[in-house]
Amino acid sequence: MPEPWATTRTEIAGIAVAELARRFGTPLFVYDQAVVVERIGSLARFDHVRYAQKACSNLAVLDLMRRHGVLVDAVSAGEIHRATRAGYRPAGTPPAIVYTADIFDADALDQCARLDLHVNCGSPDMIDQWGRRSPGREITLRLNPGFGHGHSRKTNTGGKQSKHGIWHEQLAECVARAQQYGLTVAGLHMHIGSGTDLEHLSRVCQAMETAAVEAGPQVTSISAGGGLPVPYQAGERYVDLDAYYERWNATRLRLEDRFRHPVRLEIEPGRYLTAEAGYLVAEIRAVKRQADNTFYLVDAGFNNLARPILYGAYHPMAITPADGDTARSHRDVIVGGPLCESGDIFTQEEGGFVVARRLPEARVGDLLVIENAGAYGFVMGSNYNSKPLAAEVLLRSDGPHLIRRRQSVEELLQGESIPAPPTDHAAPHS
Ligand code: LLP
Repeated sequence: MPEPWATTRTEIAGIAVAELARRFGTPLFVYDQAVVVERIGSLARFDHVRYAQKACSNLAVLDLMRRHGVLVDAVSAGEIHRATRAGYRPAGTPPAIVYTADIFDADALDQCARLDLHVNCGSPDMIDQWGRRSPGREITLRLNPGFGHGHSRKTNTGGKQSKHGIWHEQLAECVARAQQYGLTVAGLHMHIGSGTDLEHLSRVCQAMETAAVEAGPQVTSISAGGGLPVPYQAGERYVDLDAYYERWNATRLRLEDRFRHPVRLEIEPGRYLTAEAGYLVAEIRAVKRQADNTFYLVDAGFNNLARPILYGAYHPMAITPADGDTARSHRDVIVGGPLCESGDIFTQEEGGFVVARRLPEARVGDLLVIENAGAYGFVMGSNYNSKPLAAEVLLRSDGPHLIRRRQSVEELLQGESIPAPPTDHAAPHS
């Protein structure tokens, strides 16, 4: 448990941060494979761990998951494609890839049908669309039990204001709807939000049991969804995995008793598997003093890590001093990025309130390491301000491996075109 977080860091998993920056450039995402593997192992008691790849979907990370027996979730045609490219084969029980979404777009519907994927329907319309296209399959229903939970209002995925899942009161109607197409509701799924706690979990388990009883013995699997928290700052905790498992297992056992057949128990974490494995390494490019504020401006912005501007998310940070001096005095600083937008600040609270962070004195050329950046980091990156996407590196026991090279500006422009001047009018500019 990395508490309290150090504010100076010279190495990541035994490799010098300065060396990584020199070799691969900045901004750079670095993932420590050993942390991911350790996390997978800690969930071994569940029948199946299904990785919510939206958290960090680089092919090398998916390959790592697959080689450690982890199944995968996909929310788009793109994520299905990634999973197959990383070696996941759709067929089998339990299904290696599950498509979980609230809608089908045309590509996703095609891909699911072509690959015979297991579909987790998050809206009644999805049942119709899938039933018409691919009748006679087993499906899962994603339920909204009427309440939710989340580390921020934007990540709460249950309750009547949430767009996710099938409203709990419509379960029976949706089971009947599925039957019209010969679809069997073999699975039930609830992903209530990120940052589960045990008290809240008891309600989720109860809601799952009620729903499964209502759907009946055709149910052969239940999924606890994702949401396992990781600590981002002192005072935050992991969930007690023994207690978490016990509650879900008890629910499963009661259902098995009632249905007189086995019921699979899946868990679907994203953050828990990758957040703490990931670091965003940036270079300090300006140090500004304004009245009593000091700014460290780095070459990474919310185009690389959007969580602070989106949720006011807190990430631990450390300085890697270029001169190796790890005993510098500390000061309160504001850390920002290069974008032409005042909100491009890594030290902010929800609502956009800028706050200071106590960090070592730093100079241009020192590095800043933003920690716990392995989940919802690179994947939420953008090309805002025409900034190329960052590079990604995986640290294995045999050293660092580049798993995504930095995007070039030419690649960023790919696909754009300037239409030929209109021929029926005089061109506005000569
Ligand atoms: N299953 C489903 C259907 C999901 O939608 C999600 C996350 C997960 C599993 C995994 O949840 P996790 O274990 O990672 O909490 N961008 C936000 C998080 C959005 C979560 C979206 N769905 C953030 O940076 O905190």
